[in-house]
Amino acid sequence: MTPPLGSATRDRLRIAIQKSGRLAEPARALLASCGLSWRESRDKLFCYGESLPVDLLLVRDDDIPGLIADGVCDLGIVGRNELDEQAGARARIGLAPAYRALRGLGFGQCRLMLAVPDEWEWTGPEQLQGTRIATSYPAILTEWLEARGIAAQVVELSGSVEIAPRLGTADLICDLVSSGATLRANQLKPVETLLESEAVLAGPAGSFDDARADLAQMLLRRMDGVLQVRERKLLMFNAEREALPALERLLADAGPLVQLPSSNGVLTLQTMCGEGTVSWQRLEELERAGARQLMVLGVERSLA
Ligand code: PRP
Ligand code: ZN
Repeated sequence: MTPPLGSATRDRLRIAIQKSGRLAEPARALLASCGLSWRESRDKLFCYGESLPVDLLLVRDDDIPGLIADGVCDLGIVGRNELDEQAGARARIGLAPAYRALRGLGFGQCRLMLAVPDEWEWTGPEQLQGTRIATSYPAILTEWLEARGIAAQVVELSGSVEIAPRLGTADLICDLVSSGATLRANQLKPVETLLESEAVLAGPAGSFDDARADLAQMLLRRMDGVLQVRERKLLMFNAEREALPALERLLADAGPLVQLPSSNGVLTLQTMCGEGTVSWQRLEELERAGARQLMVLGVERSLA
């Protein structure tokens, strides 16, 4: 039996993620890399956690901040844009912030931008005076306009914002831009950035006072163990002691070079580094400087 949504005390953690869309797959993959697995329900809106008491709720991204605010979900993976917009909207009607971003997750990067028809000659924000701007982000846009003393009309649309200028319902738009393809397809060009966004792990403003506290803490620690080593590599090789100074110079941009115990006088060395340190070219340089049996391993997780 699934406990009723929104019940006060719970011993299972409930995480809201996007059901479909840009963040859906990477969000699930990140949670799976933290050791979570689920048995999917038939309607695929609720996934029951099997490896740990951590369940998933698959929803529209726009609903995630509200689900956390109402205590229906404990955590959520959502774009910073959505979180900021709804926090702004709450603030405008005098409500306290009900959630916060706990971690930036390094995927789902996009920008909230003003975009104008291609034929406009953009001279700066003062040009916006008296215009109509279509957006799904009225709170962020209103605050941005107010901060610059610009009197423009904010036209709130829930979708298809990019066709508003052609329909004549607005003069320009304020929308998310990722690849820029949507703007180009609609003969619009980006001119100002209001917000840099990425996927974040969001949680309640307060803390949990039941079994969820330990679960959330464990999940955060595992997530850090994945995020910190993302794109990190472990480089291993053997070398004679005399080659060490030259090799160290070539590895100046890597982490500390660690010597592993070896028996035959040949050193076995390893270091953590970024992608740039283990390019083919650099490996060949290291080889010329005396490194042997070079091996590059991807790093999946760590507990520091
Ligand atoms: C955003 C935005 C654009 C599109 C831009 O919508 O509203 O339609 O992405 O991306 P592009 O620059 O790569 O073309 P999104 O897919 O995030 O869905 P939404 O309807 O939930 O805003
Ligand atoms: Zn959305």
